[in-house]
Amino acid sequence: MIRTIEWTDNGVVMLDQRLLPIEEIYRTYTNHNEVAEAIRSMVIRGAPAIGVAAAMGIALGIKISSAVNLADLDSSFEKICSDIAATRPTAVNLFWAVERMKKVYNQKRSQGMAAIRAALIDESTAMHSEDVEANRRMGQFGQTLIPAEARILTHCNAGALATAGYGTALGVIRAAVEAGKKIEVFADETRPFLQGARLTAWELQKDNIPVTIITDNMAGHFMKMGKIDYVIVGADRIAANGDVANKIGTYSVAVLAKENGVPFFVAAPVSTLDLTLPDGSHIPIEERDADEVRKIMGVAITPPGARVANPAFDVTPSRYVDAIITDRGIARSPFQESLRKLVSCGE
Ligand code: MRU
Repeated sequence: MIRTIEWTDNGVVMLDQRLLPIEEIYRTYTNHNEVAEAIRSMVIRGAPAIGVAAAMGIALGIKISSAVNLADLDSSFEKICSDIAATRPTAVNLFWAVERMKKVYNQKRSQGMAAIRAALIDESTAMHSEDVEANRRMGQFGQTLIPAEARILTHCNAGALATAGYGTALGVIRAAVEAGKKIEVFADETRPFLQGARLTAWELQKDNIPVTIITDNMAGHFMKMGKIDYVIVGADRIAANGDVANKIGTYSVAVLAKENGVPFFVAAPVSTLDLTLPDGSHIPIEERDADEVRKIMGVAITPPGARVANPAFDVTPSRYVDAIITDRGIARSPFQESLRKLVSCGE
C-alpha cells in the first residue's frame, strides 16, 4: 500500500505529492511549523490525510516543546493548534482532528506532561489506522452499488494519497476490483493542481486498475457518448442537508451527470460531515495562489501578471447527489435525516 504519511521517532514522514509522478520523495518534518507548511503547500492534501497530518503535527509540536511546566505547555498547545488550524479552511477533517487532540489533551492534563505527550502521539497514530479501516469499510459499502462491469469517472484524487491509505472514492473502486468486478476509471485531470492526471493516474496504475486521463472539459462529452456509467468523488466537507464541498469542478461534473442520467456518488468518512452547517453556502471556500493557475509545473502559460481566480473547491447541491457512501453505511435523500442517523449510530 502507498505510504502517504507516517509517524516516526525522527518526525512526521510524508510523501511529497507536489513532485508526483515525476519523483517519489519522502521528507521528514521535524516541528509543527514544518508540518503546517507541508499542509499549506500541498505536500500532503486530501481531507482525511490533512486531518491525520494535523494530528501528527500537534503531537510532534508537544513532543518537542521546551515547556518546563504545565502552564507553559498549555500555551504552547494553544499556539500549535491555532497554527495548524490556520493552514487550509475547507476540509473539515482538519478541524475535527484538532478538536480530537484538544479533547485528549484536556483528559490527560491532570496526569502531567509525560502522559499528555504520550497520549497525543497515541491519538494521532490511532487516527491514522482508524482512517485506513474506515476507508475499507466505506469500500465494502460502496462496491455494493457497482455492477460486475462499470466505467467510473472520478474528479481530483480521493485515493490512498488523499487519506492514510486505500482511499475514499478510489477505495470504493479498489473494493469493487477486489470483489472481482471489471472496472475502468476515467480520471479528470483536475486543473489547476492536476491531482487527477498526476496522482489518481499514478496510484491506479500502481494497482493495475485501467485508467484513462481526460481533461476536465471532456467529461460531458464522454457522458453524452454513453461511456461513463457512474461518477464517484470524495468530499472536503458535507453540510447537514447533504450539500458537498469538493475539488473545484465537481459541481460541473455533477450537473453533467444529472443531465446525462449518470448516478453521482460521494464517498467520505463521517469525519467529513459538518452537521453544524445547515447547507453548503456556509462552507468556507479556500482561494489559493494565482500562480497555480498561471503556471503548470513551474512553467508560465498566461501573459505575465494576468488576473486570475483560483477557488480550490466548489459546492455541489445535494439534489445532484444520488448517494453519500460513508464508513457507517450509505445515505440517500432526504440527507438531513439519513446523515443525522449515520452520525448518531456511532455515538
Ligand atoms: O486541494 P486538495 O487536493 O486537498 O483537494 C482534495 C479533494 O478535493 C478531495 O476530493 C477530497 O479531499 C476528498 S479526499 C479523500
